[in-house]
Amino acid sequence: MCGIVGILGKSAVSTNLVEALRRLEYRGYDSAGIATVEAGSLARRRAEGKLRNLETRLLSDPLDGRTGIGHTRWATHGRPIERNAHPHMTAKVSVVHNGIIENFRELKATLEAKGHRFETDTDTEAVVHLISDSLDRGLDPVAAVQEALQHIKGAFALGIIFAGYDDLMIAARKGSPLAIGHGSGEMYLGSDAIALAPFTDTITYLEDGDWAVLRRSGVEIFDSEGARVDRPVINAVASSLLVDKGNYRHFMLKEIHEQPEVISHTLASYLDMANARVAFPDLGVDLAKISRVTISACGTAYYAGLVAKYWIERFARLPVDIDVASEMRYRETPLPKDGLAVFVSQSGETADTLATLRYCKDNGQRIASVVNVRSSTIARESHAVLPTLAGPEIGVASTKAFTCQLSVLAGLAIAIARARNTITPEEETELVTALTEVPRHMASLLHHDENYLSITDVLSKARDVLYLGRGLSFPIALEGALKLKEISYIHAEGYAAGELKHGPIALIDETVPVIVVAPEDELFEKTVSNLQEVAARGGQIILISDAEPEKAGCKLAGHIQMPKVAPLVAPLLYAIPIQLIAYHTAVQIGTDVDQPRNLAKSVTVE
Ligand code: F6R
Repeated sequence: MCGIVGILGKSAVSTNLVEALRRLEYRGYDSAGIATVEAGSLARRRAEGKLRNLETRLLSDPLDGRTGIGHTRWATHGRPIERNAHPHMTAKVSVVHNGIIENFRELKATLEAKGHRFETDTDTEAVVHLISDSLDRGLDPVAAVQEALQHIKGAFALGIIFAGYDDLMIAARKGSPLAIGHGSGEMYLGSDAIALAPFTDTITYLEDGDWAVLRRSGVEIFDSEGARVDRPVINAVASSLLVDKGNYRHFMLKEIHEQPEVISHTLASYLDMANARVAFPDLGVDLAKISRVTISACGTAYYAGLVAKYWIERFARLPVDIDVASEMRYRETPLPKDGLAVFVSQSGETADTLATLRYCKDNGQRIASVVNVRSSTIARESHAVLPTLAGPEIGVASTKAFTCQLSVLAGLAIAIARARNTITPEEETELVTALTEVPRHMASLLHHDENYLSITDVLSKARDVLYLGRGLSFPIALEGALKLKEISYIHAEGYAAGELKHGPIALIDETVPVIVVAPEDELFEKTVSNLQEVAARGGQIILISDAEPEKAGCKLAGHIQMPKVAPLVAPLLYAIPIQLIAYHTAVQIGTDVDQPRNLAKSVTVE
């Protein structure tokens, strides 16, 4: 969480710092701030709330320094008020930080005993005083940071500037990502390459444990042992156009509409569409011999994994164990010999998912990750990477990353099934053909916004909403409820339809809309029975199905007519209406769709 930037520029950097921070607002937006070296001294401006508040502050009280750092915050320690906003500083040093300093209490106690006065509730301030303390003892800035890094415990990315040093910035990375941008006579620092896209696409990613000394002439990188190291300079493709809202009102809506295209790209890299066969990359393991698949992820990515469990068990007849990463990392789950562990993550930086990956790796599993950010830590620590080609996802609520994850996982399920001979070549052709048709069906679904108006009318007045689904539709019901609650703030829960009578039915009355995800598959009749139970208690039913509305056998408060598709691909298509229902409801209510309260795009803390 939190976004950090730094610029060693040829002229005043404050405008460019703010421009870079705008691209990082998806990582947090409680408060923002910048600090620069002004005629040898450090100066800063900070503001509570969105970045525009900082911009307003800078208009009336500008900064002119050519060396600066900036930060957009997602609060971990201390309330989101100006006093706790980054950069934090003493007269000698200023720091921006992403992550958590775990031993800040001990550091603070030691430093206070030495006479340092703390002004904030943050963990970051301990780092500032630690470095200041070394500077007070006569160390130069590089030695002072090197010494401080020996004492800090936790996961962090740091950007640091110093009073009296106009041509110096120090960066450090442990756990949280950090990119260095190379300009001509200028150098940049950012939480990711997207932040730096307007200035440079020549990027070096720091490895875990690295720290770097930036000057306008270039960068020197050192590993955790202090040895000078070379890291590759790459050309990043995060072009500025990719992160533009275009003609859409929100990033989320743009990203929903991008799905046919990004799904096409993603499927194209895992399927031999010409021959209707799966063309999966070698995972470095014999898929016929794996004994079990273990899947772990968080939030929406976990629901993609849950769909994959149904697919792999059904088509490949292979047992799949799945758990949310925050549980699995501490469950000490026994893992089988010859097991494949699959991790799903848009950002590739989610702390719990990464910790679970490391547990599975240490316990002998072959690690494959389905990630959207190829340069991410999860990707780099995996034996095999299965990229989703969703492009940058800026809306905090995940949409296109989810359906791209499903596309990759569907390919994986078919690949395992083929290797294990649990499907015939004809069945493989049928499944691959069904996947190939998904982008077209999606595109047609995206052109009927009018279908959602009466539904969002019902939902926007509700206090609680239930989502029901069976089989492959159960994870979609869970995802529907998550989407609605995170952007509209309406309380929503997803249930396996068969669980209704074991408790949730008590909630149903005429004020509770119930959204039923029910393709006309072999489980449809069962779900229709649950639907009757809801109708009998006055619940307002909204049916998403390819079946004619009459087949529900009761009055519907809303109905989304879906195309008829093979059961395998239903989750990909049924994701679209549940995304649009959440989006239009949130717009009608008037919430901040792209930056819902309390959330952040990349969850790098536990
Ligand atoms: C919900 C959402 C989150 C993420 C979760 C995992 O819309 O976006 O639930 O899915 O935080 O993030 P990644 O996929 O980056 O590991």
